[in-house]
Amino acid sequence: MLDRLNNIEAEARSELQSVEDEAALQSWKVKHLGRSAALGSILDGLRELAKEERPAVGRRANEVKTALEGAYEARLGALRARALDRSLREERLDVSLPGRPVARGRLHPATQMLRRVIAIWAEMGFQVYRSRDVETDEYNFELLNMPPYHPARDQWDTFFTTQPGVILRTHTSPGQIHIMRERAPQPIRVVLPGMCYRYEQQDASHEIQFNQVEGLAVGERITFADLKGTLTSFARRLFSQTVRTRFRAGHFPFTEPSAEMDIECFVCSGAGCKVCKNTGWLEVLGSGMVHPTVLANGGYDPERFSGFAFGMGPERLTMLKHQIEHIRSFWANDLRFLEQF
Ligand code: PHE
Repeated sequence: MLDRLNNIEAEARSELQSVEDEAALQSWKVKHLGRSAALGSILDGLRELAKEERPAVGRRANEVKTALEGAYEARLGALRARALDRSLREERLDVSLPGRPVARGRLHPATQMLRRVIAIWAEMGFQVYRSRDVETDEYNFELLNMPPYHPARDQWDTFFTTQPGVILRTHTSPGQIHIMRERAPQPIRVVLPGMCYRYEQQDASHEIQFNQVEGLAVGERITFADLKGTLTSFARRLFSQTVRTRFRAGHFPFTEPSAEMDIECFVCSGAGCKVCKNTGWLEVLGSGMVHPTVLANGGYDPERFSGFAFGMGPERLTMLKHQIEHIRSFWANDLRFLEQF
């Protein structure tokens, strides 16, 4: 019996030599120190041994048990130390390494230009007013002097909704009516920035969505000279103090007279180049004196009040400024494009 105990101890110790991780160590413990281990059954069977044998076997069995438990603890400690050592080595942080660059977000080029344009108008005393994107036919067209079937409506290819008379605004001009009805008969000086939608055949300069900044001034003595002076002043602040402007006759049903403003091409200074298509001029906005019918629709007596309005496309301004060839770049979400701004 004592020999068997010696063998049990020797065998357990030799197996312990090859235990390399905690899981294997647990199986070793179950096998050699568990309930059904050989050692366990000897201890359980002590009672059946001859009286003379019992003390010696009992003592030795307990010795072996204590020795194996000690060996187990020692091995466990060694394995844990080794694991800790390895993780310290492998997961070491080198605090002297340079940090990884943080990817910083930035404002979309259209937003940058929109903010700049709005800031300039704010400096000139124009309040910023938001108007809805989903409009009615009445506000987008009728109240702007375009009754149903008016041929001028063709200029604004429209997205209709399933709701009769409800459309996506094709320009920011319906905001003119909203603000006039809110403020009449007080004087108005506002800009209305926002997204517009058109059912367009997309090409290099046409998108189905784009921003516009509408402007409206209404008062008792507003003249065409105010329109020219204000818009020229805006162009100087946005482009350069020396930029030249030119007003060409245009047509919009909601303004009379109407004018389109060009600025001298800043790429070739008027000599003619690809950007200005050899004209020396770049078209930047549409404008005009608010039509009497529109003033009346807004609640202002056209005999007493007059006003001017304008509409410009900040994406177009950005395209001119950075010589961006395709308007599609704005909403394609291509980081190679966006990260340049
Ligand atoms: N709403 C016109 C457009 O989208 C621009 C404009 C606004 C013209 C105000 C005159 C006055 O083309």
